[in-house]
Amino acid sequence: MSYGFSSVTAALEATALLYERVRLVIPPEEWALFAEDILAIQALKKQKKAVILAHNYMTPEIYHGVADIVGDSLALARQAAQVDAEIIVMAGVHFMAETAKLMNPTRTVLIPDLGAGCSLAQSITAQDVRHLKAQYPGIPVITYVNTSAAVKAECDICCTSGNALKIVESLGVPEVIMVPDEFLAQNVAKTTKVKIITWSGHCEVHERFTPQEVRDYRSQHPQISVVAHPECSPNVVAEADFSGSTVKMSEWVSAHKPSQVMLLTECSMSDNVAVENPSITFIRPCQLCPYMKKITLKSIRQALEQGAHQIEIPQDIATPARCAVERMIAVF
Ligand code: 13P
Ligand code: SF4
Repeated sequence: MSYGFSSVTAALEATALLYERVRLVIPPEEWALFAEDILAIQALKKQKKAVILAHNYMTPEIYHGVADIVGDSLALARQAAQVDAEIIVMAGVHFMAETAKLMNPTRTVLIPDLGAGCSLAQSITAQDVRHLKAQYPGIPVITYVNTSAAVKAECDICCTSGNALKIVESLGVPEVIMVPDEFLAQNVAKTTKVKIITWSGHCEVHERFTPQEVRDYRSQHPQISVVAHPECSPNVVAEADFSGSTVKMSEWVSAHKPSQVMLLTECSMSDNVAVENPSITFIRPCQLCPYMKKITLKSIRQALEQGAHQIEIPQDIATPARCAVERMIAVF
């Protein structure tokens, strides 16, 4: 369907102001391929009363071009609860769409591509959590938000990379189980007296960074600041100047304004932060998340046109899973 922009030239004219904002990270030849979809998505959002929530790992044409609300997993969970529009399109991965549905169950929540999964979410099942609870009776289970609703339903409370330490300490117990991200749990364990029982899940994107790689970049670029996501291994985090959730990484860069910075996280993050910080040079040891990259302008447009793919969570899972997320939101 056409949305009133009959030619590429007309679409380019209509998006010229928007392009000014992102020209640093999107070449004009690529923008020519995006402009018509951006305008179509903007029209569809109005027509269908929809909003787009986008994670910080979305490509810049999505993040800056069509998103209404952007953020890390914690911000997206909080913001989803406030959405008044009829439809929420999650430009992120499946567990984020499920969390949005848990937080705002009367809205239609769409994930543009069902292949937008996550290696952490795939690393653990509800049955695995039941086994852990039987093995360690009475020890509370904290689940990283990067899990299915079925896993959340078995856990006491959720956490994200933005609040993991606070959640661990909020329980007031000497020992907790934290699933499924082993590296996040180990990174938190370094900063608390609470003993943490871990699971062996890893983010397939962040586990690729190595301490040697960081040292090599530092010797090639002596001025560089290094910022690592806590899904990186503790050995990598130990080499960094700062570690935090994607929002905290972005805030650190904006506050410190290093001349050169390297973000040890998914590729598109550097593009999105670079748009806000044009004076900073970003060194990019690029690691793509194949799941996040399933979300494209085309798949978002199709989701809005077809009302697909709708997130549904059975009531017996949704009720306890929502409790775990709401307990987290109540703490932080
Ligand atoms: P945050 O944006 O919450 O830091 O999480 C990163 C992530 O793993 C998303 O997949
Ligand atoms: Fe999952 Fe890692 Fe991709 Fe985030 S970056 S969605 S944790 S695989």
